[in-house]
Amino acid sequence: MHLTAVSKSYTLAGADPILVLSGVNLTIESGEKASLIGPSGTGKSTLLALIAGLLEPDSGTVEIDGKPLTSRSERERADVRARTIGIALQSDNLIPFLSASENVELALGFGGEVARRRAPAAARELLEQFGVGHRADHLPRHLSGGEAQRVALAVATANRPAVLLADEVVGQLDAETAEHVIDTVLAVDLAVLYVTHDTALADRVGSRYQITDHQVRRR
Ligand SMILES: Nc1ncnc2c1ncn2[C@@H]1O[C@H](COP(=O)(O)OP(=O)(O)O)[C@@H](O)[C@H]1O
Ligand SMILES: [Mg+2]
Repeated sequence: MHLTAVSKSYTLAGADPILVLSGVNLTIESGEKASLIGPSGTGKSTLLALIAGLLEPDSGTVEIDGKPLTSRSERERADVRARTIGIALQSDNLIPFLSASENVELALGFGGEVARRRAPAAARELLEQFGVGHRADHLPRHLSGGEAQRVALAVATANRPAVLLADEVVGQLDAETAEHVIDTVLAVDLAVLYVTHDTALADRVGSRYQITDHQVRRR
């Protein structure tokens, strides 16, 4: 995953543009685990949205898995995203009326990797990998916060993305549960970029980044 000279500002009607990111360069190799910290409002979620192709940079390029995301149509970006990016957010990642297993099965279906009849078994395997196999038949509201986030990570990795983006996935969890969830993320065989405001959690990996002065810097 490469970002080259990526800049992004937001323009609201009648107001001056808000500069968020300016000339950001960032490379995450396949399989690399990287953390990102920075005070609230510095552009961490914006950065992840740019990597996921949910937002377009004002200038600069984003390349995932050797393919440029920039200057493609929205439909093409959605397609690249479905096949190469997994995203998990701080909360509300799951469809509330589907069980943990069904949430994962749906994500497996989108990737087209596993035939439909194999989906329940494949979902079970993924849930087990994240330590929540025993919660497969539970609805999201019957899961603890840590369990729901593990299911969300199983969903985000179901289509075997090149990069898993995790935006404050443990923000609402107690320290011990947060550590467990991050450790499960780090055990996944994919490139991972996770955002946290907890430096101890960020320091569990060697590649450490922060946003300061609209730039992504190593720390
Ligand atoms: N859709 C938007 N429209 C206008 N401003 C936005 C939008 N999204 C984020 N911002 C602003 O951009 C800045 C960075 O936001 P964000 O990327 O969410 O930061 P972080 O995730 O680090 O808290 C903030 O000042 C925020 O208010
Ligand atoms: Mg954010």
